[in-house]
Amino acid sequence: MTKNIAVIKGDGIGPEIIEEAVKILNAVGEKFGHGFNYTYVLMGGIAIDETGDPLPKETVEKCLSSDSVLLGAVGGPKWDKGEGSKRPEAGLLGIRSALKLFANIRPAKLLKPLASACPLKTEITDKGLDLVIVRELIGGAYFGEKRTYTDEKGHKTASDLMKYSDYEIERICRVAFEMAKKRRNKVTSIDKANVLDSSRLWREVSHKIASEYPEVGFSDMLVDNAAMQLVRDPAQFDVIVTENLFGDILSDEASMITGSLGMIPSASLGEGTLGLYEPIHGSAPDIAGQNKANPIAAILSAAMMLRYGFDMAEEADTVEKAVDRALDEGFRTGDIMSEGKRLVSCSEMGDKIASFI
Ligand code: IPM
Ligand code: MN
Repeated sequence: MTKNIAVIKGDGIGPEIIEEAVKILNAVGEKFGHGFNYTYVLMGGIAIDETGDPLPKETVEKCLSSDSVLLGAVGGPKWDKGEGSKRPEAGLLGIRSALKLFANIRPAKLLKPLASACPLKTEITDKGLDLVIVRELIGGAYFGEKRTYTDEKGHKTASDLMKYSDYEIERICRVAFEMAKKRRNKVTSIDKANVLDSSRLWREVSHKIASEYPEVGFSDMLVDNAAMQLVRDPAQFDVIVTENLFGDILSDEASMITGSLGMIPSASLGEGTLGLYEPIHGSAPDIAGQNKANPIAAILSAAMMLRYGFDMAEEADTVEKAVDRALDEGFRTGDIMSEGKRLVSCSEMGDKIASFI
Protein backbone atom coordinates (compact mmCIF):
# COMPACT_ATOMS: atom_id res chain seq x y z
CA MET A 1 0.00 0.00 0.00
CA THR A 2 1.20 3.53 -0.74
CA LYS A 3 0.41 6.35 1.67
CA ASN A 4 1.18 10.04 1.45
CA ILE A 5 2.17 11.59 4.75
CA ALA A 6 2.51 15.32 5.36
CA VAL A 7 5.26 15.85 7.92
CA ILE A 8 5.57 18.88 10.15
CA LYS A 9 8.84 18.80 12.06
CA GLY A 10 8.16 22.04 13.88
CA ASP A 11 10.45 23.61 16.46
CA GLY A 12 12.80 22.64 19.29
CA ILE A 13 13.17 18.87 19.52
CA GLY A 14 10.50 18.44 16.80
CA PRO A 15 12.94 17.74 13.94
CA GLU A 16 14.98 15.22 16.00
CA ILE A 17 12.06 13.12 17.16
CA ILE A 18 10.36 13.22 13.75
CA GLU A 19 13.51 11.90 12.13
CA GLU A 20 13.27 8.86 14.41
CA ALA A 21 9.55 8.39 13.75
CA VAL A 22 10.22 8.47 10.00
CA LYS A 23 13.04 5.97 10.50
CA ILE A 24 10.54 3.60 12.13
CA LEU A 25 7.89 4.14 9.43
CA ASN A 26 10.50 3.32 6.80
CA ALA A 27 11.45 0.14 8.66
CA VAL A 28 7.75 -0.81 8.75
CA GLY A 29 7.39 0.01 5.06
CA GLU A 30 10.30 -2.25 4.22
CA LYS A 31 9.10 -5.14 6.35
CA PHE A 32 5.48 -5.07 5.22
CA GLY A 33 5.96 -3.82 1.66
CA HIS A 34 4.31 -0.40 2.02
CA GLY A 35 5.48 2.80 0.38
CA PHE A 36 5.34 5.85 2.60
CA ASN A 37 5.89 9.15 0.79
CA TYR A 38 6.70 12.19 2.89
CA THR A 39 5.96 15.81 2.08
CA TYR A 40 7.65 18.16 4.54
CA VAL A 41 5.69 21.30 5.34
CA LEU A 42 6.26 24.27 7.63
CA MET A 43 4.32 25.17 10.76
CA GLY A 44 4.99 26.94 14.05
CA GLY A 45 8.00 29.11 14.86
CA ILE A 46 10.04 28.03 11.87
CA ALA A 47 7.11 28.93 9.61
CA ILE A 48 6.94 32.39 11.25
CA ASP A 49 10.65 32.86 10.57
CA GLU A 50 10.47 31.70 6.98
CA THR A 51 7.07 32.98 5.86
CA GLY A 52 5.79 35.35 8.57
CA ASP A 53 2.83 33.02 9.20
CA PRO A 54 2.68 30.17 11.78
CA LEU A 55 0.39 28.23 9.43
CA PRO A 56 1.07 28.99 5.76
CA LYS A 57 -1.82 28.27 3.39
CA GLU A 58 0.34 25.80 1.51
CA THR A 59 0.71 23.72 4.69
CA VAL A 60 -3.05 23.45 5.15
CA GLU A 61 -3.51 22.50 1.48
CA LYS A 62 -0.78 19.85 1.56
CA CYS A 63 -2.15 18.38 4.80
CA LEU A 64 -5.69 18.27 3.41
CA SER A 65 -4.49 16.40 0.31
CA SER A 66 -2.46 13.85 2.29
CA ASP A 67 -3.55 10.56 3.82
CA SER A 68 -2.23 11.58 7.23
CA VAL A 69 -0.20 14.20 9.05
CA LEU A 70 2.74 13.55 11.36
CA LEU A 71 3.77 16.39 13.67
CA GLY A 72 6.73 16.92 16.02
CA ALA A 73 6.16 19.91 18.31
CA VAL A 74 5.92 23.66 17.98
CA GLY A 75 6.88 26.71 20.03
CA GLY A 76 9.83 28.15 21.89
CA PRO A 77 11.02 31.21 23.80
CA LYS A 78 12.10 32.93 20.60
CA TRP A 79 8.47 33.45 19.60
CA ASP A 80 6.95 33.88 23.06
CA LYS A 81 6.48 37.62 22.77
CA GLY A 82 4.37 37.48 19.64
CA GLU A 83 0.70 38.37 19.84
CA GLY A 84 -1.78 35.46 19.91
CA SER A 85 -2.21 35.01 16.19
CA LYS A 86 1.52 35.28 15.50
CA ARG A 87 2.62 32.59 17.91
CA PRO A 88 3.69 29.09 16.85
CA GLU A 89 0.80 27.62 18.87
CA ALA A 90 -1.66 29.47 16.63
CA GLY A 91 -0.36 27.26 13.83
CA LEU A 92 -1.16 24.12 15.80
CA LEU A 93 -4.64 25.28 16.77
CA GLY A 94 -5.19 26.42 13.18
CA ILE A 95 -4.30 23.08 11.63
CA ARG A 96 -6.44 21.14 14.14
CA SER A 97 -9.36 23.37 13.29
CA ALA A 98 -8.75 23.49 9.49
CA LEU A 99 -8.68 19.69 9.39
CA LYS A 100 -11.76 19.55 11.71
CA LEU A 101 -9.95 17.23 14.10
CA PHE A 102 -12.33 17.35 17.04
CA ALA A 103 -11.20 14.21 18.84
CA ASN A 104 -7.80 13.93 20.45
CA ILE A 105 -6.96 10.46 21.71
CA ARG A 106 -4.24 10.31 24.37
CA PRO A 107 -3.47 6.86 25.76
CA ALA A 108 -1.57 6.71 29.04
CA LYS A 109 -0.25 3.33 30.00
CA LEU A 110 2.37 2.34 32.53
CA LEU A 111 4.80 0.03 30.77
CA LYS A 112 6.31 -2.61 33.06
CA PRO A 113 9.95 -1.75 32.36
CA LEU A 114 9.24 1.87 33.28
CA ALA A 115 7.59 1.15 36.61
CA SER A 116 10.55 2.67 38.45
CA ALA A 117 10.18 5.93 36.50
CA CYS A 118 6.64 6.33 37.84
CA PRO A 119 6.48 8.79 40.74
CA LEU A 120 3.55 7.00 42.40
CA LYS A 121 3.90 4.40 45.16
CA THR A 122 3.94 0.79 43.99
CA GLU A 123 0.81 -0.04 45.99
CA ILE A 124 -0.99 2.39 43.67
CA THR A 125 0.61 1.29 40.40
CA ASP A 126 0.35 -2.42 41.23
CA LYS A 127 -3.31 -2.09 40.33
CA GLY A 128 -2.27 -1.10 36.81
CA LEU A 129 -2.53 2.11 34.85
CA ASP A 130 -4.01 1.94 31.40
CA LEU A 131 -6.34 4.75 30.42
CA VAL A 132 -7.22 6.85 27.42
CA ILE A 133 -8.07 10.51 27.52
CA VAL A 134 -10.49 11.55 24.78
CA ARG A 135 -10.05 15.30 24.64
CA GLU A 136 -12.35 17.61 22.69
CA LEU A 137 -9.91 19.52 20.50
CA ILE A 138 -11.52 22.32 18.53
CA GLY A 139 -13.92 23.95 20.97
CA GLY A 140 -14.06 25.49 24.42
CA ALA A 141 -11.87 28.35 25.63
CA TYR A 142 -9.23 27.60 23.02
CA PHE A 143 -11.56 28.63 20.23
CA GLY A 144 -14.20 30.82 21.90
CA GLU A 145 -14.23 34.57 21.44
CA LYS A 146 -11.04 36.21 22.75
CA ARG A 147 -10.84 39.82 23.85
CA THR A 148 -8.24 42.05 25.42
CA TYR A 149 -9.58 45.51 26.21
CA THR A 150 -9.73 48.29 28.76
CA ASP A 151 -12.90 48.22 30.84
CA GLU A 152 -15.00 51.21 31.83
CA LYS A 153 -12.94 51.72 35.02
CA GLY A 154 -9.71 51.73 33.04
CA HIS A 155 -8.57 48.21 33.98
CA LYS A 156 -6.82 46.20 31.34
CA THR A 157 -9.04 43.15 30.93
CA ALA A 158 -8.96 39.93 28.94
CA SER A 159 -11.41 37.11 28.41
CA ASP A 160 -11.60 33.75 26.62
CA LEU A 161 -15.08 32.42 26.11
CA MET A 162 -15.57 28.75 26.96
CA LYS A 163 -18.37 27.84 24.60
CA TYR A 164 -19.82 24.46 23.63
CA SER A 165 -22.78 23.47 21.49
CA ASP A 166 -24.67 20.20 21.89
CA TYR A 167 -23.40 18.67 18.63
CA GLU A 168 -19.77 19.22 19.67
CA ILE A 169 -20.35 17.36 22.93
CA GLU A 170 -22.32 14.60 21.25
CA ARG A 171 -19.69 13.71 18.69
CA ILE A 172 -16.81 13.61 21.16
CA CYS A 173 -18.84 11.51 23.61
CA ARG A 174 -19.61 9.02 20.84
CA VAL A 175 -15.89 8.66 20.16
CA ALA A 176 -15.34 7.92 23.86
CA PHE A 177 -18.11 5.32 24.08
CA GLU A 178 -16.98 3.57 20.90
CA MET A 179 -13.46 3.47 22.30
CA ALA A 180 -14.67 2.08 25.64
CA LYS A 181 -16.47 -0.75 23.82
CA LYS A 182 -13.10 -1.88 22.47
CA ARG A 183 -11.50 -1.60 25.91
CA ARG A 184 -12.88 -2.14 29.41
CA ASN A 185 -16.34 -0.67 28.86
CA LYS A 186 -16.08 2.30 31.15
CA VAL A 187 -16.38 6.02 30.46
CA THR A 188 -15.76 8.81 32.97
CA SER A 189 -16.90 12.23 31.77
CA ILE A 190 -15.02 15.06 33.43
CA ASP A 191 -16.47 18.54 33.83
CA LYS A 192 -16.95 21.43 36.26
CA ALA A 193 -20.75 21.30 36.32
CA ASN A 194 -20.93 22.77 39.83
CA VAL A 195 -19.71 26.10 38.40
CA LEU A 196 -19.79 26.29 34.60
CA ASP A 197 -22.81 26.47 32.30
CA SER A 198 -20.79 24.87 29.51
CA SER A 199 -20.17 21.92 31.85
CA ARG A 200 -23.84 21.63 32.75
CA LEU A 201 -24.64 21.31 29.06
CA TRP A 202 -21.76 18.84 28.78
CA ARG A 203 -23.33 16.77 31.54
CA GLU A 204 -26.81 16.87 30.00
CA VAL A 205 -25.58 15.81 26.56
CA SER A 206 -23.11 13.19 27.82
CA HIS A 207 -25.90 11.53 29.82
CA LYS A 208 -28.05 11.40 26.70
CA ILE A 209 -25.28 9.72 24.71
CA ALA A 210 -24.57 7.36 27.64
CA SER A 211 -28.16 6.14 27.45
CA GLU A 212 -27.43 4.96 23.90
CA TYR A 213 -24.66 2.75 25.28
CA PRO A 214 -26.27 0.79 28.14
CA GLU A 215 -23.49 -1.81 27.96
CA VAL A 216 -20.85 0.78 28.86
CA GLY A 217 -20.42 1.89 32.47
CA PHE A 218 -20.69 5.65 32.81
CA SER A 219 -20.07 8.26 35.49
CA ASP A 220 -19.33 11.98 35.85
CA MET A 221 -16.51 13.47 37.82
CA LEU A 222 -15.64 17.05 38.63
CA VAL A 223 -12.32 18.08 37.17
CA ASP A 224 -10.67 19.03 40.48
CA ASN A 225 -11.57 15.64 41.92
CA ALA A 226 -10.33 13.96 38.71
CA ALA A 227 -6.93 15.63 39.05
CA MET A 228 -6.73 14.15 42.56
CA GLN A 229 -8.07 10.71 41.61
CA LEU A 230 -5.48 10.41 38.82
CA VAL A 231 -2.70 10.28 41.39
CA ARG A 232 -4.70 8.57 44.16
CA ASP A 233 -6.18 5.67 42.18
CA PRO A 234 -5.57 5.86 38.42
CA ALA A 235 -6.65 2.22 37.94
CA GLN A 236 -10.29 3.33 38.26
CA PHE A 237 -10.14 4.99 34.83
CA ASP A 238 -10.61 3.36 31.45
CA VAL A 239 -11.79 6.07 29.02
CA ILE A 240 -11.91 9.68 30.15
CA VAL A 241 -13.84 12.15 28.01
CA THR A 242 -13.51 15.85 28.63
CA GLU A 243 -13.44 19.31 27.11
CA ASN A 244 -10.40 20.91 25.51
CA LEU A 245 -8.71 22.79 28.37
CA PHE A 246 -9.40 20.16 31.04
CA GLY A 247 -8.09 17.50 28.65
CA ASP A 248 -4.92 19.47 28.03
CA ILE A 249 -4.18 19.71 31.73
CA LEU A 250 -5.21 16.20 32.76
CA SER A 251 -3.26 14.57 29.95
CA ASP A 252 0.00 16.12 31.13
CA GLU A 253 -0.78 14.80 34.59
CA ALA A 254 -1.65 11.37 33.22
CA SER A 255 1.58 11.27 31.23
CA MET A 256 3.72 11.97 34.25
CA ILE A 257 2.29 9.03 36.16
CA THR A 258 3.35 6.77 33.29
CA GLY A 259 6.95 7.87 33.85
CA SER A 260 7.51 10.71 31.43
CA LEU A 261 5.85 13.23 29.18
CA GLY A 262 8.18 11.82 26.53
CA MET A 263 6.20 8.57 26.30
CA ILE A 264 2.68 9.61 25.32
CA PRO A 265 1.52 9.75 21.71
CA SER A 266 -1.72 11.19 20.42
CA ALA A 267 -4.07 10.93 17.49
CA SER A 268 -6.31 13.80 16.45
CA LEU A 269 -9.24 12.57 14.43
CA GLY A 270 -12.26 14.00 12.66
CA GLU A 271 -15.17 12.49 10.75
CA GLY A 272 -13.04 11.06 7.92
CA THR A 273 -9.79 9.11 7.86
CA LEU A 274 -7.46 12.14 7.73
CA GLY A 275 -5.80 12.46 11.12
CA LEU A 276 -2.92 14.27 12.74
CA TYR A 277 -0.52 12.31 14.92
CA GLU A 278 1.72 14.01 17.43
CA PRO A 279 3.37 13.44 20.80
CA ILE A 280 1.61 15.25 23.62
CA HIS A 281 4.84 16.85 24.85
CA GLY A 282 6.10 20.23 23.76
CA SER A 283 9.18 21.36 21.86
CA ALA A 284 11.53 21.21 24.90
CA PRO A 285 13.75 24.09 23.73
CA ASP A 286 16.15 23.48 26.65
CA ILE A 287 17.38 20.21 25.13
CA ALA A 288 16.75 20.94 21.44
CA GLY A 289 19.51 20.08 18.99
CA GLN A 290 21.41 17.97 21.53
CA ASN A 291 20.22 14.53 20.41
CA LYS A 292 18.92 13.91 23.94
CA ALA A 293 15.17 13.92 23.46
CA ASN A 294 13.00 10.85 23.93
CA PRO A 295 11.62 9.91 20.48
CA ILE A 296 9.22 7.27 21.85
CA ALA A 297 6.11 9.49 21.98
CA ALA A 298 6.71 10.46 18.34
CA ILE A 299 7.34 6.83 17.37
CA LEU A 300 4.19 5.69 19.17
CA SER A 301 2.31 8.50 17.40
CA ALA A 302 3.47 6.98 14.11
CA ALA A 303 2.11 3.64 15.40
CA MET A 304 -1.24 5.31 16.06
CA MET A 305 -1.15 6.63 12.49
CA LEU A 306 -0.68 3.09 11.22
CA ARG A 307 -3.52 1.80 13.39
CA TYR A 308 -6.15 4.54 13.08
CA GLY A 309 -5.14 6.26 9.84
CA PHE A 310 -4.13 3.34 7.64
CA ASP A 311 -5.93 0.41 9.29
CA MET A 312 -2.59 -1.38 9.68
CA ALA A 313 -3.07 -3.07 13.06
CA GLU A 314 -0.33 -5.64 12.66
CA GLU A 315 2.16 -2.97 11.65
CA ALA A 316 1.15 -0.82 14.63
CA ASP A 317 1.51 -3.78 17.00
CA THR A 318 4.98 -4.40 15.59
CA VAL A 319 6.06 -0.84 16.38
CA GLU A 320 4.64 -0.97 19.91
CA LYS A 321 6.35 -4.30 20.56
CA ALA A 322 9.65 -2.91 19.25
CA VAL A 323 9.34 -0.01 21.71
CA ASP A 324 8.60 -2.44 24.57
CA ARG A 325 11.61 -4.52 23.60
CA ALA A 326 13.99 -1.54 23.52
CA LEU A 327 12.79 -0.63 27.02
CA ASP A 328 12.93 -4.26 28.19
CA GLU A 329 16.51 -4.48 27.04
CA GLY A 330 17.31 -1.49 29.22
CA PHE A 331 17.76 1.32 26.70
CA ARG A 332 16.74 4.70 28.13
CA THR A 333 16.86 8.34 27.11
CA GLY A 334 17.68 10.80 29.90
CA ASP A 335 14.08 11.53 30.89
CA ILE A 336 13.38 7.88 31.78
CA MET A 337 16.89 6.91 32.88
CA SER A 338 17.28 4.92 36.09
CA GLU A 339 20.05 2.98 37.78
CA GLY A 340 21.48 0.03 35.90
CA LYS A 341 19.97 1.08 32.56
CA ARG A 342 21.78 2.13 29.38
CA LEU A 343 21.59 5.81 28.54
CA VAL A 344 21.12 6.33 24.79
CA SER A 345 20.68 9.35 22.57
CA CYS A 346 17.54 10.19 20.63
CA SER A 347 18.92 8.71 17.40
CA GLU A 348 20.31 5.62 19.15
CA MET A 349 16.89 4.96 20.64
CA GLY A 350 15.43 5.24 17.13
CA ASP A 351 18.08 2.85 15.78
CA LYS A 352 17.39 0.30 18.51
CA ILE A 353 13.64 0.38 17.97
CA ALA A 354 14.09 0.20 14.17
CA SER A 355 16.32 -2.86 14.59
CA PHE A 356 13.49 -4.63 16.46
CA ILE A 357 10.90 -4.00 13.70
C1 IPM B 1 -0.98 20.02 23.61
C2 IPM B 1 -0.24 21.32 23.71
C3 IPM B 1 -0.99 22.38 22.93
C4 IPM B 1 -2.38 22.49 23.52
C5 IPM B 1 -0.29 23.75 22.90
C6 IPM B 1 1.12 23.66 22.37
C7 IPM B 1 -1.09 24.76 22.13
O1 IPM B 1 -0.05 21.68 25.03
O2 IPM B 1 -1.13 19.51 22.49
O3 IPM B 1 -1.39 19.50 24.64
O4 IPM B 1 -2.59 23.18 24.51
O5 IPM B 1 -3.28 21.86 22.96
MN1 MN C 1 -0.72 20.19 26.46
